[in-house]
Amino acid sequence: MSTQLSFHDHKPETLSFYDAVVTGLSNKTKAIPPKLFYDEKGSKLFDLICEQPEYYPPTVERQMLTTLADDIAALTGQSRVLIEPGVGNASKVRLIMDALRPSAFVPMDISFDYLKAVSTTLAKDYPWLPVHATCVDFTHSLPIPHEVPPGKRLVFFPGSSIGNFCKADALNFLNLIHDTVGEDGMLLIGVDTKKPEPVLHAAYNDAAGITAQFNLNLLHRMRDELDAQVDLNAFEHNAFYNAQAGRIEMHLVSQQRQELRINGHRFPFDKGESVHTENSYKYAPEEFLAFSAQSHFDHVAHWVDPQGLFAIYLLKAS
Ligand SMILES: C[S@@+](CC[C@H](N)C(=O)[O-])C[C@H]1O[C@@H](n2cnc3c(N)ncnc32)[C@H](O)[C@@H]1O
Repeated sequence: MSTQLSFHDHKPETLSFYDAVVTGLSNKTKAIPPKLFYDEKGSKLFDLICEQPEYYPPTVERQMLTTLADDIAALTGQSRVLIEPGVGNASKVRLIMDALRPSAFVPMDISFDYLKAVSTTLAKDYPWLPVHATCVDFTHSLPIPHEVPPGKRLVFFPGSSIGNFCKADALNFLNLIHDTVGEDGMLLIGVDTKKPEPVLHAAYNDAAGITAQFNLNLLHRMRDELDAQVDLNAFEHNAFYNAQAGRIEMHLVSQQRQELRINGHRFPFDKGESVHTENSYKYAPEEFLAFSAQSHFDHVAHWVDPQGLFAIYLLKAS
């Protein structure tokens, strides 16, 4: 059977890894955006995180999508153009693909090699489905390739990736999705809920240390790709729930006074000083619905798992 597959490279990171690292480490509070976690190794480590027993979101979201696929399709209708920013290994979209039976799929990711491999397998497994893999930084744009057929659109944004944005950026991103789906467009989005701190703490500090490896991989990237002079053993992973802000924060904490050097730039660290590498905001359902309404999405349906661990929302552009 034939496959229908095209690739579109918007070259999202050639310039930006160096720029983002130098800019981020020059700030008074050192911070590096989480999108830089995802080189090929970072993407594989993320897949491993999803297999850790403490990291409940993917397991719960998968169970929900499996159970809800037909209900979701009944509300969206079939034959929409399906777009997934940050597709990763595409395992979640597979759970709803047969029910939604989209007219085309536009998987987007910042990690091109990984995107290529994932899209190639996907196109083989769904020979009826045109796949237009698009390598892009979704925080800048959601470009839809010209050959994508006209028709109603649906953006799928699982994994609580919306939680990685601060509130202002999350609102901008929802507005970008709103513009991308246009009239009659819909958004299916998975969002982590607020819950007791010990559950959250365990999820981001798995016993096998995979989340720690994922976080520390940023330093490996700096050494390998930017020729950074950095003592890889002198930083440690730290993740904690900041209840006031309603978010998990992930940091790389310097274990000693030291200097990290990149291409003539020198970045001094005090002992205990950190690089803030990720936020993961948690939203109570009523909080998220009020928030999404601000970007002109109307509520169609939402579902919460029986333990209240995770929520999925279906919204329609108003
Ligand atoms: C947390 S994974 C989620 C994967 C998948 N959607 C899921 O829920 O299982 C995030 C994915 O988004 C990609 N990603 C992160 N930031 C991105 C950005 N700014 N632009 C495009 N892709 C991004 C990463 O490469 C990674 O594959």
